[in-house]
Amino acid sequence: MQNLKIALTKGRLEKKAVALFEEAGYDCTSLHDPGRKLLLDIDCPAGDAPAMSAVLAKAPDVITYVERGVCDLGIVGKDTIMELGTSFYEVLDLGFGKCRFVLAAQPETEFNASYKTRVIGTKYPEVTRAFFAKKGMEVDIVKIEGSVELAPLLGLADGIVDIVETGTTLKENGLVIKEEVAPVSARLIVNLASMKMKKRELLALIEKLQTLLQEKD
Ligand code: PRP
Repeated sequence: MQNLKIALTKGRLEKKAVALFEEAGYDCTSLHDPGRKLLLDIDCPAGDAPAMSAVLAKAPDVITYVERGVCDLGIVGKDTIMELGTSFYEVLDLGFGKCRFVLAAQPETEFNASYKTRVIGTKYPEVTRAFFAKKGMEVDIVKIEGSVELAPLLGLADGIVDIVETGTTLKENGLVIKEEVAPVSARLIVNLASMKMKKRELLALIEKLQTLLQEKD
């Protein structure tokens, strides 16, 4: 079997992705203590799934590496996929990293097409644009890089489109959910050409992960 190169999203999704590969029989020792090494080998001692080299990357870079074909596959959140691109196969919903995109604001703020143009702060301008376009509402979108909940508190925006996991950040800042936008979870994505060139290896891995996920259901 040919080796595969996989891009894993650093941070929140990282531990759960590593746990999933360990359940699938991979020796992920290198990922537990990577030091400053960036390309890490993970082997499957049983030999029934392809050996892989893994890179840990920021979510948007996972998409870039898979779209450009320097990685055969990747694990990334549906949030980043919705924002950045679709030039790859999205093959599995991995069921972890569950959260939701929501429209949130201070309790008294109304969002109605008949009101004046609302200002929305977000890290996800494309998701926000698509959400309000579907509602037929014109909005002014302000891109923010982090701590988006500050935007309504500072008077920069009327509301935010952001990710909610536990709801703690909204609650502690006096914001409430006005509307659900979309559910989010981690996805396995595959480069279009790799799916043809390394079909046997990719299918072996996908089927193994799929079986594990079904057992968890
Ligand atoms: C995310 C998101 C919210 C928070 C939601 O931010 O943008 O701010 O988590 O989580 P909760 O519902 O469990 O409180 P993140 O921690 O990734 O950092 P950031 O605010 O710097 O973008």
